[in-house]
Amino acid sequence: MSKYILALDQGTTSSRAILFDHAGHPHAIEQQEFTQIFPQPGWVEHDANEIWQSQLEVMRKLMRENNVTAADIAAIGVTNQRETTVLWDRASGEPVANAIVWQDRRNAALCDRLREQGKAALFQQKTGLVLDAYFSATKLTWLLDHVPGARDKALRGELAFGTIDSWLIYKMSGAHITDTSNAARTMLFNIHTLAWDEELLELLGIPASLLPRVVPSSGVAAHTHAELLGAPLPIAGIAGDQQAATFGQACLRPGMAKNTYGTGCFMLMNVGRKPVASQNQLLMTVGWTLNRGGAVCADATDYLLEGSAFVAGAAVQWLRDGLGIIRDSSEVEALASSVPDAGGAVFVPAFAGLGAPYWDPYARGTIVGITRGTTKAHLARAALEGVACQNVDVLAAMQRDAGMPLTELRVDGGAARNDMMMQFQADLLDVPVVRPMVTETTALGAAYLAGLAVDFWASLDEIGAQWRMERRFEPHMSVDERQSRMHAWTRAVERSRAWVE
Ligand code: G3P
Repeated sequence: MSKYILALDQGTTSSRAILFDHAGHPHAIEQQEFTQIFPQPGWVEHDANEIWQSQLEVMRKLMRENNVTAADIAAIGVTNQRETTVLWDRASGEPVANAIVWQDRRNAALCDRLREQGKAALFQQKTGLVLDAYFSATKLTWLLDHVPGARDKALRGELAFGTIDSWLIYKMSGAHITDTSNAARTMLFNIHTLAWDEELLELLGIPASLLPRVVPSSGVAAHTHAELLGAPLPIAGIAGDQQAATFGQACLRPGMAKNTYGTGCFMLMNVGRKPVASQNQLLMTVGWTLNRGGAVCADATDYLLEGSAFVAGAAVQWLRDGLGIIRDSSEVEALASSVPDAGGAVFVPAFAGLGAPYWDPYARGTIVGITRGTTKAHLARAALEGVACQNVDVLAAMQRDAGMPLTELRVDGGAARNDMMMQFQADLLDVPVVRPMVTETTALGAAYLAGLAVDFWASLDEIGAQWRMERRFEPHMSVDERQSRMHAWTRAVERSRAWVE
């Protein structure tokens, strides 16, 4: 019997491959970074071929270095940075341009025009999303409008669009598919009917022939080309990384929530089998669709409320690469802990605009309250505190939408390993923050979705029972201090807004 599920986690800054055993433990990991391309302020691109090559290399290396063959692997689960948009030529399999990354805000003006035409409510009602350049739709229209010949080719059915899951699966198997959780991030997918929405496609001038077939998140959807890994392997799990992390954190019942500290910070709460419209500028998104005989069924679909903040780990990377005040991201905790507070500095990490609940693509990173006494340690601390403050705004909106307080928040991702940061987060949120034993929850979620489909794991109950707590951070901060910090944060956010004219 096969010993592992192979999870591919294609993130914003690196491609990873992880083998999980039956206990849901990571057996071995490989990771490779790839190039970030910043052609202009506010633009972010990736080379889709480099993404594919780095993903292929890590999975082959992982198998080689751990003496694992295809026979040891029961199935593959794919999880990915969401929204990032790839457009490729069906005949050659080559991308027609660089991928436009989720952080890219180049088509904010189109969103403004659609908003002026009164279309925001239509998009929100159908897709659960706030009309914003974050999502794939306006990235795709930009490519169709700016890549020479693209629109004509698209009309002739010669091009294919996909988010990163589609692109990788196409490269691995030739199938042009996506799952409901990734489709839900395009702003073209109706989350009630679980199908591409003709009215929205028409409104944006996007030919339906470009779109992948939508499949459940759990279920054998394709097989890899035999030569890729030595034998064909079933691709049986697909989910956007934040939805996968929610699944990997076993937030399987309504009211359970997690926060992932990756490049950005993404808080998601399970709301059950029916979408509910956010009244507080959050997103309603598909979590995952389990398998019901291969069909995409609403009664097998869980929905999530999501608050997305665009910058978390990216702020630490900026301290490292932009300012050079740390050499390695892991140094940030010691530097930030070397001072008792940020010395009055407040840092709004709006490098890519502000996400939930502000949705301001024209906001930019802002540091206020700097004095002659401000040091690099204060800046490091202010950056971490700023990331934590964003989550307070998101949690407040989420609790209002859910109509109930959160009893605990499960955390994962890079910064979740930072004890100082997690204590500060619990203090500011006034909610216990809980860290699991396995923090590779994104990849684990994809593995679980794949493993469920091939009976590697028998049931959701078995998966839920595998979740184990490593540490719980209880809130200790006084009400006065919390309020005064959030007051300063709110003033700083106001100063960061509508900066780009
Ligand atoms: O929506 C963007 C998100 O999927 C990116 O995740 O982990 O690459 O920061 P991450």
